Amino acid sequence: MRKIILWLALIVLSASMFGQQNEKTISIIPEPVSMVQKNGDFVLPDVVTISSPSNKEMNFVNDFLVKKISTATGKDVKIDSKAKNATIQLVLNKRVNSQIGDEGYVLTSTSNGVTINANKPAGLFYGVQTLIQLLPPQIESDKLQKDVVWSIPQVEIMDYPRVGWRGMMLDVSRHFFTVDEVKQFIDNMVKYKYNMFHWHLTDDEGWRIEIKSLPKLTEVGAWRVEKIGNFGTFSDPLPEEPKNYGGYYTYEQISEIVKYAGERFIQVMPEIDVPGHSLAAIASYPELSCTPGAENYNVHAGEPFMDWSQGAPPIAMVDNTLCPANEKVYEFMDKVISEVAQLFPFEYIHTGGDEAPHNFWQKSPQVQELMKKEGLKTIPQVQSYFGKRIEKIIQSKGKKMMGWDEIIEGGITPTTALMSWRGIKYGIEASKSGHYVVMSPSNYVYIDLMQGDKSTDPLVYNTLRLNQSYKFDPIPEGADPNYILGGQANLWTEQIYNIRQAEYMTWPRGFAVAESLWSPKEKKNWNHFVEKTENHFERLNYSQTKYSPAMYDPIVSVKKDGEKYYVTLTPEIEELDIYTSFDNSTPDNFYPKYTKAQMIPKDASLMRIVTYKGNKKVGRVMSITVEDLKKRAK
Ligand code: ACM
Repeated sequence: MRKIILWLALIVLSASMFGQQNEKTISIIPEPVSMVQKNGDFVLPDVVTISSPSNKEMNFVNDFLVKKISTATGKDVKIDSKAKNATIQLVLNKRVNSQIGDEGYVLTSTSNGVTINANKPAGLFYGVQTLIQLLPPQIESDKLQKDVVWSIPQVEIMDYPRVGWRGMMLDVSRHFFTVDEVKQFIDNMVKYKYNMFHWHLTDDEGWRIEIKSLPKLTEVGAWRVEKIGNFGTFSDPLPEEPKNYGGYYTYEQISEIVKYAGERFIQVMPEIDVPGHSLAAIASYPELSCTPGAENYNVHAGEPFMDWSQGAPPIAMVDNTLCPANEKVYEFMDKVISEVAQLFPFEYIHTGGDEAPHNFWQKSPQVQELMKKEGLKTIPQVQSYFGKRIEKIIQSKGKKMMGWDEIIEGGITPTTALMSWRGIKYGIEASKSGHYVVMSPSNYVYIDLMQGDKSTDPLVYNTLRLNQSYKFDPIPEGADPNYILGGQANLWTEQIYNIRQAEYMTWPRGFAVAESLWSPKEKKNWNHFVEKTENHFERLNYSQTKYSPAMYDPIVSVKKDGEKYYVTLTPEIEELDIYTSFDNSTPDNFYPKYTKAQMIPKDASLMRIVTYKGNKKVGRVMSITVEDLKKRAK
C-alpha cells in the first residue's frame, strides 16, 4: 500500500512539474511580432552542432553563438556547416521572405532542435539573441553553471523590427569611459536588438576624439580637474588643482570600436556638439571664441556655469560657443569633420546644435556685423547660418548632417535630419516638412533622468519612471511615418561617474525603449512587460550587469491640508505591498500595510518605506526626512 501511495505521489508530482514547464512564461524582450508556443521543450544535447553559412558577416555570429552556449553550459559546441541534422541550424533564405526584411528572422524549435531562417546575417544574429533568451537565465553567466536543465520551449516565432533606427546614445564627455567599457555598453545593447550607437564625443567637459591636425583638442581639451559629488554644484577649479581627469580615443581605438560594433550589426554615429557645448574646444583653441578673455577658459569641471532659471536657452556665465562670425571656426570644423568622416563609415555625422546660449552672441560686435552683412534678424537665424555652413562642410566629405531639434528654429536645409529631444513636437513638425527624424524625447527616453525617488538615485533634473519609458511611441500620431527613421534612448553622464552607474541607469528602461522600437504597438502590454523584466533581472544578475530596482519602489507624493501633511505612495507595478514607519525603525512585512495616504505625525523626523511581494522584500528601504517630504508638498 505504501508503495502504491508513493508511486501515486510521484506521478502527481512529475505531472505537475511537466505542467509547470509547459506553462513557463517565455520572456523575450523586445516582444516578437508573432509567437506560438507548443507543448514540450527541447533539451540541448551534450554535443551541440551548429550548421551555419560561413561568410565574413556570419563568422562573428557563429563564434558568438559557440562561445555563448559553451561557456555557461560546458557543452561541446561546434560549427559544422555540412551537418545534416545539426542541433541549431542557421539558414540564409535562398528565396527572400519579404515580410521579415533585412533584420527579421523566423525561429522554430521542435523536439529535434532549433532552426533560424533569415534573409540577411543581421536577421540570423537577432534570431540568435532570441534563442539565447529562450534558454534559462543562467546562460548569461560567464562561468560554468551546474545542475541546469538547458531546455528551450518549443515555439514558432516570426519577428522583425518596427523601426530601422534603434539607438542608444552614450555621453563620454562629462565622464570618460574606456574602450572596454564602451564595448561592454555595446554588448548589452546587442541583447535587446539595438542597432545604433550614438557616441557623444565632445562637450564642455571634455574632447574625446583624437584629431591629428588639431593636437591641442586632446592635449588640453580632454583633461579637467576631477571633482566628485553633485556635478553642477562644484567649487571653481583652482589654478593649482591638477587637470588629471579625462581621456580620449585614438584613431586606432575609434576604429576598434567601429569594427566591434559593426560585427554586432551596430552602426556608430559620432557627435561633435557645436556651436554650444564647445568649452573643451575653446579651452584648447581660444581663438575659436568671439569673447575676449577666452584664453583663460578651462574645460568645465562641474562648477555652475549656465543659468537655467529663465528656461532654454540658458544664460551662459562663460561663453561656451564657437564664434559663428569667425572664418577660423569654419577652417577648424573642416579639419575636424575631415578626420571624423574618415574614421566613421556611417552616413550621418551629428553636429549637436543644442542649448547654444544667446547672451554672448547678442553682445558680440563680430556677431552683430555678421547679422548686418548676412541680413540675419535673430540669434536662431545666426545659428541657422552657422548650421548651413557646417552642413556644406559635412556634405563636402560625402556625409549627411543630423542635429538636435534647436537647429530647426532658424531654418534648416531640406537635407538636414533632426533628432527630436524637447518632446515629440519638433520631430512631428520636421517629418511633415520632409526631414528625416529620430525621436528621442526627453520625457520618454532620457535615461539619465532619475528612475526612482531622489532618496535612492543621484539627483538629476527630473524623474523618468519605467512605465513612462514604456509608453514611448517612436511614430506618434501626426508624424509622417515615411520620415521617421526610428528612435533612441540617451544617456548623459553628468551624474554618472562609472560604468556600473551607467548600467544602473540604462536597465530596465533600455528594455522599455527596445520594446517600443522593435515590437508592434499592439503587442505591447505593461503587465506582461513587468513579468518579463523580472525574468531579465535574473539574467542581468547572472551577467553581473547592474540595473535599477526602482519599479519596486513606490512613487511618493505629498499634499498639505491646513497644517497637516499627507504622504501618498503609489506603486508602479501590481502586487506590491507597502510598509512604512515614522519611528525611525526599518519597516518589514509585519508592520501595518499601507492602505491610504498617511498623515505625518507632528514630531516625526524621518519616514521609511519598503515594499514586499508576498513574503519577499523587493523594494529598497527608502528613507526620506520629514523636512524633505514637506518641501515636496503641493
Ligand atoms: C540635449 O539633451 N541637450 C540634446
